[in-house]
Amino acid sequence: MQDFIYYAPTQVVFGRKSEDQVASLVRQFGGSRVLVHYGGKSAVRSGLLDKICNLLTADGLTVAKLGGVVPNPRLSLVHEGIALCQREGVDFILAVGGGSVIDSAKAIAMGIANPDVEVWDYYMGRAQLTKALPVASVLTIPAAGSEMSEATVITNEDGDLKLGFGSDLLRPKFAIMNPERTMTLPPYQTAAGVTDMMMHMFERYFTKDDDMDLTTDLTEATLRRVKAAVFDVLRNPEDYRQRAQLMWGGSVAHWGLLGMGVREDWATHQLEHELSAMFDVTHGAGLAALWPSWARYVMHENLSRFVRFAVNVMDVPNDFTDPEGTAQKGIEAMERFYRAIGMPTSIKELIGRDITDDEIDEMARKCSRDGKATCGGLKVLHAEDMKAIYQMARG
Ligand code: NZQ
Ligand code: ZN
Repeated sequence: MQDFIYYAPTQVVFGRKSEDQVASLVRQFGGSRVLVHYGGKSAVRSGLLDKICNLLTADGLTVAKLGGVVPNPRLSLVHEGIALCQREGVDFILAVGGGSVIDSAKAIAMGIANPDVEVWDYYMGRAQLTKALPVASVLTIPAAGSEMSEATVITNEDGDLKLGFGSDLLRPKFAIMNPERTMTLPPYQTAAGVTDMMMHMFERYFTKDDDMDLTTDLTEATLRRVKAAVFDVLRNPEDYRQRAQLMWGGSVAHWGLLGMGVREDWATHQLEHELSAMFDVTHGAGLAALWPSWARYVMHENLSRFVRFAVNVMDVPNDFTDPEGTAQKGIEAMERFYRAIGMPTSIKELIGRDITDDEIDEMARKCSRDGKATCGGLKVLHAEDMKAIYQMARG
């Protein structure tokens, strides 16, 4: 079992009308001049953006606005945000949106606090973060878990590189979560979000350190809950109770609780980041396209864990005479689940055409940092393994 430190400082304010508390929360955490950062149109269309800005200004806070964050958020907008915040003397960053907006906000928070460092250097491992401006969010999509995580993932358009960086300095101060605000999500984004949150649990559950039983139990219960809730929500997008399960599930999946006592994996995520960088696909959909192939490639590293998953999460009958068959059935059941919620199970389905060998080689080259790096914990993957998994997933 791995030793661990548990640290989860984000204040969660959950429920109907929770956004009404935004101004007092910003003040509580020391903000006075706020950058409100947001995405494309959803927060404008729903009226949430105006509501948040009005609440802040009515309380005497100064507001600057920067929209335009796209899924797979871009470094160029981060640079724009840093310049804007410097001009306006911003001391607090409030993200209104999902993982992309929050990740972009975290990047801006690093950039303003460290004006002499190029922010991309943190992602490249060329600089150490020692301070950052406070960040918080009003969450509109349960998926990435960035509202409580220490991570930020940014795409540098120059070279199509999508890289993550993590520091406890980036843990958001608060997260406002009103499940009603997620009712406008299109089915595809709802499903991709559930896929992502489940994958955040998989990255911790499929491990060799399977001796922290409480973590395993909590993970299986959370997986079962969100897996069931998504069907209710797809049938009835205004189902508050089930939207709430997903919203809380997305945070529970990723703030760290479900990784206590285990060595985490994260190979599927790293493989997916190359897909997102090359084809600009939705992160959750990219994960669904890869996971079954990853699972088949690594399952013998801890077969009993895959059997346990099949039985306890996917309701596969346990055939004690054939553990491999039971494990395979669990993976097949997961593929059926992906299809049932409208997610792809191959790269071909994801990008709408055959991927070429050259593209696969390029993704494996980037994922392995020109053959110098590995990924994964359950099985350490080298460039050749990465290529093999992409080939299995091509469809
Ligand atoms: O831009 P708008 O118009 O707001 O539309 C967004 C976007 O197109 C839409 N949306 C969000 N809330 C909505 C809504 N549409 C209708 N109603 C609402 N209430 O949903 C689309 C996706 O939004 P995005 O923020 O991109 O989604 P998500 O939360 O899945 O974030 C994905 C990003 O997070 C990164 C991913 O790599 C990806 O770049 N991740 C960040 C992590 C972290 N920081 O800890 C961990 C994750 O593994 C993940 O890698
Ligand atoms: Zn993810």
